[in-house]
Amino acid sequence: MTQSSALIHVMDRAARKAGRALVRDFGEVELLQVSKKGAADFVSAADLRAEQTLKEELARARPDFIFEGEETGVGAGSGKTRWLVDPLDGTTNFLHGIPHFAISIAVVEDGKITAGLVYSPLLDEVYSAASGEGAFVGRRRLRVSARSALKESLIATGIPYLGRGDHKHYLSTLECVMGKVAGIRRFGSAALDLAYVAAGRFDGFWEFGLKPWDVAAGIILVREAGGFVTDARGGEDMLGTGDIVAGNGAIHQELRTLLSPLGMPAAA
Ligand code: IPD
Ligand code: CA
Ligand code: CA
Repeated sequence: MTQSSALIHVMDRAARKAGRALVRDFGEVELLQVSKKGAADFVSAADLRAEQTLKEELARARPDFIFEGEETGVGAGSGKTRWLVDPLDGTTNFLHGIPHFAISIAVVEDGKITAGLVYSPLLDEVYSAASGEGAFVGRRRLRVSARSALKESLIATGIPYLGRGDHKHYLSTLECVMGKVAGIRRFGSAALDLAYVAAGRFDGFWEFGLKPWDVAAGIILVREAGGFVTDARGGEDMLGTGDIVAGNGAIHQELRTLLSPLGMPAAA
């Protein structure tokens, strides 16, 4: 087993274990819809439990890695390698009983993403990639789409939530892109949006203000599937800025040409 396939095996095992509990909890959420507050508290608890499971499993396999998760923050340690984890990407979907959410785990070494895995527990689909070794769903190799005409392409995006992000700037980007493409989707999980770009289901994706754990695994998936990921200006600090444009070569370039003149969003 190579070093990276061993790492993917570790992520796979941890994600499946946390995913089993998420699937059980997802089945309960609908029963709790009577009280909005009750359901929200239940989902936060499920989210936290999933992160604890991931933290334990990943730490057991690689005690020298630092753990950074959305729910518990940065753990102890001084190593150069860290796990970057979103235990539940697509929380709003989960809360509303919509079956589209994922676990996202990435390995970041000296600021560079070297491996990533996105797991959809309801579909039991594992998307994985490691630097220089390609991207896969299960054992099947992934390739970004070959579509090069914007007017034929299906583009995913993320719309900022109430009280977050720069709504005016976002609407200017939406207006610009929607007039040029075949269709736009807002599915509610950035990790899966990027996995779907890697799988050639979406031809491109853009969103602003994402967190590093939303996108780290998805970025390496798209790149290893032959696609491109930058911010709208072509910059590479997506883990820092959270601004992302992704796609196959042609669509990534076209989207950047549309989005970059509109500037970047104001700080939230
Ligand atoms: C969210 C999802 C969503 C994106 C949001 C994220 P969460 O993550 O990725 O698609 O639009 O910006 O915060 O909160 O479900 O982990
Ligand atoms: Ca997320
Ligand atoms: Ca989350």
